Amino acid sequence: PQPTAQLSSGAVMPLLGLGTWKSEPGQVRAAVLAAVRCGYRHIDCAAIYGNEQEVGAALAELLAEGVVSRQQLFITGKLWNSSHGAKDVQPALNKTLLDLGLDYLDLFLIHWPVTGCSGPVLTPSTGETWAAMEACVEAGLTRSIGVSNFSRVKLQQLLDSPQLKIRPVVLQIEAHPYWSNSALLSWAAAQGLHVTAYSPLGSPDSAAIMQRGDDARRLLEEPALLRIAEQCGKSPAQVLIRWALQRGTSVLPKSANPGRIASNFDVLDWQLTPEDQQALSSLPYRQRMVSGVMWLNPRGPYKTLQDLWDEDE
Ligand code: A2P
Repeated sequence: PQPTAQLSSGAVMPLLGLGTWKSEPGQVRAAVLAAVRCGYRHIDCAAIYGNEQEVGAALAELLAEGVVSRQQLFITGKLWNSSHGAKDVQPALNKTLLDLGLDYLDLFLIHWPVTGCSGPVLTPSTGETWAAMEACVEAGLTRSIGVSNFSRVKLQQLLDSPQLKIRPVVLQIEAHPYWSNSALLSWAAAQGLHVTAYSPLGSPDSAAIMQRGDDARRLLEEPALLRIAEQCGKSPAQVLIRWALQRGTSVLPKSANPGRIASNFDVLDWQLTPEDQQALSSLPYRQRMVSGVMWLNPRGPYKTLQDLWDEDE
């Protein structure tokens, strides 16, 4: 049996999921087939990844072959920034369901606290978007709802809203040893919110790190990580995935390669020692891979990274 988290909605989420960001159409079908066949039950999707139709083709094949049942799968989708308006949310979710070939999602997240508005106040407001997310639960289109890339301050505002009917159950954020987000994790735990870690391998394929040039460090080449991996007889990626699981987060390693997909799943029958876990938690180097700089706008609600992320890390 896989490790799972019981979400505050009552739903059960398998902790290890397949990330599909940056999986090209033409690759992602094979990736999802390989993943589910080797035991993954949780697939993390988003409309903006541009590959949901192909994920859906793979799911249809797996369901038709009886490899899994729909109930055994945990499928996440995300609302893109251009669909935050009250009347746009449900159509966006319906499009995702159509592409994925499903009649409900397990989890639907607001992808970013960003709408592309040019004005000092976020428009449509998070409250308006959230009410439409709640309506999606009431319509049976998704079992649970949550947010991604929200700071503690922005999420607290949502939790404090007197209009709130359904609490967010998941916060999906970047988390790996170069950006551990520990304070946000502790706060979320105290709120009963489950945290999902994205870019757990440090997203070696992300444009952000490539643009950073020579001084950017690659997490998968971190000397302390290589030392621990060698001592454990595991790959660096396996150690990073294990580290995330031992913090209690769910974790979404992305791979489009069937061999790496299988080896990334081979992390359930061994553990990191508390010393190794701690060593990875206290690396001196810090670096976000997803900076958020693309959302800054001198006329928008976020003029600086501080406006976007508030005080988090
Ligand atoms: P690939 O898809 O070719 O396997 P993240 O999940 O942090 O965004 O990282 C995803 C990146 O890490 C992708 O470039 C992926 O490449 C690579 N990757 C995934 N699994 C492994 C692994 N086990 N070892 C090395 N690189 C990996």
